[in-house]
Amino acid sequence: MVRLESELILSNLRIISIFYLIFATELCNGEFKRPPPGRMILTRHTKPGSYPQQVHISAVGTDHIRVSWITTDKHVPSIVEYGTDSGTYDVTATGEQTSYRYFSYVSGKIHHVKIGPLLPDMVYYYRCGGVGDEFSDLGQTEWTASTLHHVNQSDYDMLLLPGDLSYADTQQPLWDSFGRFVEQYSSKRPWMVTQGNHEVEASPILHDLRPFTAYNSRWLMPYQESGSTSNLYYSFDVAGAIHVIMLGSYTNFDSNSTQYKWLVSDLAKVDRTQTPWLIVLLHVPWYNTNLAHQGEGESMRKAMEDLLYKARVDVVFSGHVHAYERFTRIYNNKADQCGPVYITIGDGGNREGLALQFQKDHKSAHLSLFHEASFGHGRLKVINGSSAHWSWHRNDDSVSTVRDELWLESLSSSSACHVGSHFVAYAADYEL
Ligand SMILES: [Fe+2]
Repeated sequence: MVRLESELILSNLRIISIFYLIFATELCNGEFKRPPPGRMILTRHTKPGSYPQQVHISAVGTDHIRVSWITTDKHVPSIVEYGTDSGTYDVTATGEQTSYRYFSYVSGKIHHVKIGPLLPDMVYYYRCGGVGDEFSDLGQTEWTASTLHHVNQSDYDMLLLPGDLSYADTQQPLWDSFGRFVEQYSSKRPWMVTQGNHEVEASPILHDLRPFTAYNSRWLMPYQESGSTSNLYYSFDVAGAIHVIMLGSYTNFDSNSTQYKWLVSDLAKVDRTQTPWLIVLLHVPWYNTNLAHQGEGESMRKAMEDLLYKARVDVVFSGHVHAYERFTRIYNNKADQCGPVYITIGDGGNREGLALQFQKDHKSAHLSLFHEASFGHGRLKVINGSSAHWSWHRNDDSVSTVRDELWLESLSSSSACHVGSHFVAYAADYEL
């Protein structure tokens, strides 16, 4: 089954962790044996049509959550009841609904309801559509107040996914199966996603069938709340400690594009004295020594690398290449202490297998500090405004094994990199 997950933990102590969970299926470099590729798991809906299925939640601002789910019954209201005691729902929120058609496939009713404001450090219980199961663990610890002790008790608070979700690839029922498969996780912690090539699903026949029809209908992200005009790129703050930007590799990104203009505007708003960490996720890596997808991110890198460098982005995470690779801080193909750390976290459990061939003679090979063609999970713990720890764990059998780790110093704490001044000047020149 295809899954790539990344998770984010935070608290008011500015302790943030990002995990990337990737499921092992393959043989890796001959170093150790993994189980053979797993079969695809089709998850069916066996309850009445009015029952919510494919429930997932996403963060909206600092104290709201969007609850999304699907019903095959078209008459179910788009309401979410919620409260802080199990079975007692003090508040009811009403949202919106949509559906889409893809050739002969007609989706169920897709509900999106925004709830809140939610109290900090609180577990909420909620029910969708007035029927069905109760979900919980919708705590504010994800983005506001909490303590280190509380964080240690949680597995994670937020999940970030840089594209290639379901691998439905136009087979729309696989979107439904994926939604049911991940529901046990996605209904408990916010999943913040951006799109990959497997979400495009453009039709060579029906030209009025817009790309990303299923993705945009099912995985509504807070793009409007971040001033974007597209669900394909957006941003959000986490606990006031970190600003996360999701970019779109499969939409326009040149200097005249709406994405580029939005990115300039969004970066200009970031106050690094308040949000000292700045992280970007995108699907296609800009730096990659793996033979797979070689050079695919180059045009986007040329268009946007200057922006990220001048804004002093701390880390750029990407997916697409089915392997793990960590680079040093880079700007324009050279090591640069004020550039982002680039990390490719591959993907997981997909039917395409691993990308095993790293190129020793690649022009960026001297900038690549660690790489391994296997699946695993990673974690970034932001301890405070200046310090964070990144670790990548290989899924070695049933045991998680740390294969790569390092301590990061935020660029906002670096006197040499002059965070803020470079980008403010650039944004002013750009005439926002
Ligand atoms: Fe991909």
